[in-house]
Amino acid sequence: MNVIRTFEDYQEQYKKSIEHPENFWSEVAGNFYWRKKWDKVLEWDFHKPEVKWFQGAKLNITENCLDRHLTKHANQTAIIWEPNNPDDDAKHITYQQLFEEVCKTANMLKANGVKKGDRVCIYLPMIPELAYAVLACARIGAVHSVVFAGFSAKSVADRVQDAGCNIVITSDGAHRGEKTINLKGIIDQAMESCPGVSCVIVKEYLKSGVPMKTGRDVYWHDEIQKVNADCPAEEMDAEDMLFILYTSGSTGKPKGMVHTCGGYMVYTNYTFKTAFQYHEGHVYWCTADIGWITGHSYILYGPLSAGATTVMFEGIPSWPDWGRFWQAIERHKVNIFYTAPTAIRSLQQAPLSFVEKYDLSSLKVLGSVGEPINEEAWNWYDKNIGKGKCPIIDTWWQTETGGFMITPIANVTKLKPAHATLPLPGVQPAVMNESGLEIEGNNIEGRLTIKFPWPSMARTIYGDHQRFKETYFSSFPGKYFTGDGCKRDNDGYYRITGRVDDIIIVSGHNLGTAEIESAIDEHANVIETAVVGFPHDIKGQGIYAFVICYEKPTEEEKLRVEIKDTVSKIIGPIAKPDKIQFVSGLPKTRSGKIMRRILRKVAEGDTGNLGDTTTLLDPAVVDEIKAGAL
Ligand code: PRX
Repeated sequence: MNVIRTFEDYQEQYKKSIEHPENFWSEVAGNFYWRKKWDKVLEWDFHKPEVKWFQGAKLNITENCLDRHLTKHANQTAIIWEPNNPDDDAKHITYQQLFEEVCKTANMLKANGVKKGDRVCIYLPMIPELAYAVLACARIGAVHSVVFAGFSAKSVADRVQDAGCNIVITSDGAHRGEKTINLKGIIDQAMESCPGVSCVIVKEYLKSGVPMKTGRDVYWHDEIQKVNADCPAEEMDAEDMLFILYTSGSTGKPKGMVHTCGGYMVYTNYTFKTAFQYHEGHVYWCTADIGWITGHSYILYGPLSAGATTVMFEGIPSWPDWGRFWQAIERHKVNIFYTAPTAIRSLQQAPLSFVEKYDLSSLKVLGSVGEPINEEAWNWYDKNIGKGKCPIIDTWWQTETGGFMITPIANVTKLKPAHATLPLPGVQPAVMNESGLEIEGNNIEGRLTIKFPWPSMARTIYGDHQRFKETYFSSFPGKYFTGDGCKRDNDGYYRITGRVDDIIIVSGHNLGTAEIESAIDEHANVIETAVVGFPHDIKGQGIYAFVICYEKPTEEEKLRVEIKDTVSKIIGPIAKPDKIQFVSGLPKTRSGKIMRRILRKVAEGDTGNLGDTTTLLDPAVVDEIKAGAL
């Protein structure tokens, strides 16, 4: 039931999902273990906005990810943990072992005061404890807020405060290629502005002997010894919060996207199995970090609820050499491999001998996520990794959507390089023009909205429903606005053209220009900044900052380094600008609005025609900016 194996199946299922969405989703949801079935499949109003799926149903997502596999698959590997250093041993964690570790971790959290509904901040590297901690929260009904372990102390503190977390889980450090990172030091600094946090659980991983604050910090290994593995799952309502995950906004502080238990479980499982055509026994590897939505949905919840073997990789693609991914594929006989265009583009630059050394014949399906994949990278991936025999599943989706939205289905959808192709069943895209009207038909271009709810959509922004409404449901009333532009070609295939708002996608990560600008402005010599994206060979988009200083810098390079450090400290290294141009003014309209269109053109190196500049307060500034372009 609901299984798609051919394009005709897809068409039939798609039709059914549009004509009878409630029947469609209740059939899909029939494949799970519910303590109690729902009273109503869907209730929604995009004007409020309010969306509720499977109301009245009771469940615990971990019973679906763990307990229900124990009868037949207890000894099957749930997680293959591949360490940073290839000379160290991988760990094969069976479903039985994962179940026990999660239950113990859950009891440890309870023993440290965590209750249903509490928010728990998790700031860990890609080690098994990260998976245990996430699932342990879900087991006891606590809300996890995973913060990517590359974020700065200030970013962690903002997220801890916003979510009102009173407990943090971290480690004494992380490996990153040949480097180590002192995560506990970052947490200590963050905690200076988080008086609400009463407990920090520290996994001793590097054994680096970090200072521990008496009364607040406890070691994971001490606490876990005090508990057993008997932890019945908390009964959750389908619409109870499962997690908060922060994503950058086009203005102001990051948004804590709220996902709920029932719909998220159903959708991540369904989309994982459908798009990748997962079959029992497949080894699946998603290279994302669990700190991003891709890791939540497609390293943990989707694959585990499907009973798959999912690889969790601690390292980076370039260390000890550029063959690291391919080596791990050979080692674990990976069948489905899912990565980001930015990784592909950087791997593409290394000599092919790094690929050719390894046996990649286990691969059946390849995936891509995070940003548009350019044709060159698509072709390289297809030819050299897939050897021309593996479909590339270009999955378009977002933190907010929880799961895949527009994507090919492996061996079902005819592919077109760089196209996310067609919507999955249940997904109803509508392309809008700037006046807010839906553009019907094919061979069109516009803004991508979704006009009907799907089970894993975010329900709100934590603590700020008004912002949720304004950001996603106001531009096109009655529709969810994605913030992306797209084309729909003659075959009805979608090609995502990129963000149409002030978000830049750098190496597949969402960054708000406003957030980067305010970080740069923290530098003592900076008056004002405008940040835009520009095309970057590896990262997809790079960050270009136009900066006005109080005092004209005598040593520009030195100031650039200082500004980059400031951004690194405030947000994290991922947000460091690639280019910084010092300017004496910014192109502003008479009402004071920065004309980013002009700055984007300069950053792209396209200064020939900057369009109409007559409405600018000071048109002369444009000539100076053009002349100084980097
Ligand atoms: O612009 C789209 C781009 O990434 C944005 C979502 O970013 P984030 O919430 O961080 O989630 C990333 C992982 C799902 C989208 O609005 N994007 C993501 N996947 C694709 C993409 N753009 C084009 N093609 C994709 N496959």
